[in-house]
Amino acid sequence: MTQSTIFPKSFLWGAASSSFQIEGTDPEDGRGPSIWDHFCEQPGKIADGSNGLVACDHIHRFREDVALLADMGCKAYRFSIAWPRILPQGRGEVNPKGIEFYSQLVDELLAKGITPWVTLYHWDLPLALEEKGGWRNRDTAFAFAEYAEVVVKALGDRVKHWITHNEPWCVAVLGHRSGEHAPGLQDENATIRTAHHVLLSHGLAMQKIRALAPDSTAGITLNLNPAYPANPGLPADEAATRWFDGDFNRWYLDPIFRGSYPEDMLRHHETKGHLDAEGWNFIHKGDLQTIQQPIDFLGVNYYSRAVMGDRGPAEREAMKDPLRYTAMGWEIYPQGLGDLMRRLHREYPVAAYYITENGAAYPDELKADGRVHDVHRVRYYALHCQQMAQLCAEGVPLKGYFAWSIMDNFEWAHGYAKRFGLVYVDYHTQKRYPKDSYRWFQRVIAENRVIDLL
Ligand code: FCB
Repeated sequence: MTQSTIFPKSFLWGAASSSFQIEGTDPEDGRGPSIWDHFCEQPGKIADGSNGLVACDHIHRFREDVALLADMGCKAYRFSIAWPRILPQGRGEVNPKGIEFYSQLVDELLAKGITPWVTLYHWDLPLALEEKGGWRNRDTAFAFAEYAEVVVKALGDRVKHWITHNEPWCVAVLGHRSGEHAPGLQDENATIRTAHHVLLSHGLAMQKIRALAPDSTAGITLNLNPAYPANPGLPADEAATRWFDGDFNRWYLDPIFRGSYPEDMLRHHETKGHLDAEGWNFIHKGDLQTIQQPIDFLGVNYYSRAVMGDRGPAEREAMKDPLRYTAMGWEIYPQGLGDLMRRLHREYPVAAYYITENGAAYPDELKADGRVHDVHRVRYYALHCQQMAQLCAEGVPLKGYFAWSIMDNFEWAHGYAKRFGLVYVDYHTQKRYPKDSYRWFQRVIAENRVIDLL
């Protein structure tokens, strides 16, 4: 079979960002603190000691940023709303300046013919809610539904595409098991409780969206990693692969699509002693039905695969090769996107899938002429776009793609050191410089097909 390189006419091309990573703050803006502001203040948590106070200063430069999206040819823009900008205390009083900011952003996008895709939660929980137990507290799920209601009422006349959550796995595991992300806990019980309350809040928010904006489409974004054994057939590696898939993928897919948690993982948490005296009672009767709301689409963030077991010294050496690994140390494995999407289509069918993030960090260099020749990034994108064209040709309902990210930004615990942008940001001047990958995407979008490397 020849490889298809053409996309369906209706394929939705876009780019993505998130509030905390780009917005920055203004003393006048009325935004309340989030768990990430607090996390950044703790020594040693962010690699370069940075924070989100200025970031890309998007709150002041959003018109320029929308112009960049428009010039690239983006048909859609995925961005997130900062909960503490809307509700500084997490619930209760609404900050009119916060609503005003997103309202202007939406208007600017629409004026340029770009469809807004709004993520309601991309990790910046109001600090006031963390002080009451954050996502470990069931009440936060209901606070999230109230917040969703405020946003949908304010923007639902113009925003028709809603993503409740971005990557619940990261919220639960990076925030509460490894502690690499805010709020920085290392507690297994907090991890499973958080995952459950985030999923519950997704279901509750879906109900609000359906009731308040019945003409819009809504879903959730999961980060999914196909897992492979390092040594196929070796029982330990096969078991580790199954565990990884359960912990990373099925723990979120199963409740959303099937209304149940995977049995093997329930047993895993029981035998590892991850439950406290309450056992599984934090999962209330009816919760799983709430989580299993019909969704219009599944958003998939794909960056890499997982290989479980020892891959040997040759592979460790290969990690320095930019053709094999990105600057995040993530293996470049486009085939994994194909494998993952075919499996989803088979096991977790839904009317539409969107790749809501995909991209690569590399140590970019801004040349004197203002150009950034990010050839490795272009290659990464081309390889993944090839997979997508093929999936579309095979009939997988993959309807669109959002590159991560429109511009360099605050890469969480890595600070500003890791650059994922299609546009280079000079953090001293805040000047934006479209990289070669941006120009490459311009052509891909214009011609609606995979373009060979520039
Ligand atoms: C994803 C996040 C996004 C960005 C990319 C690189 O996990 O959703 O904010 O940090 O990774």
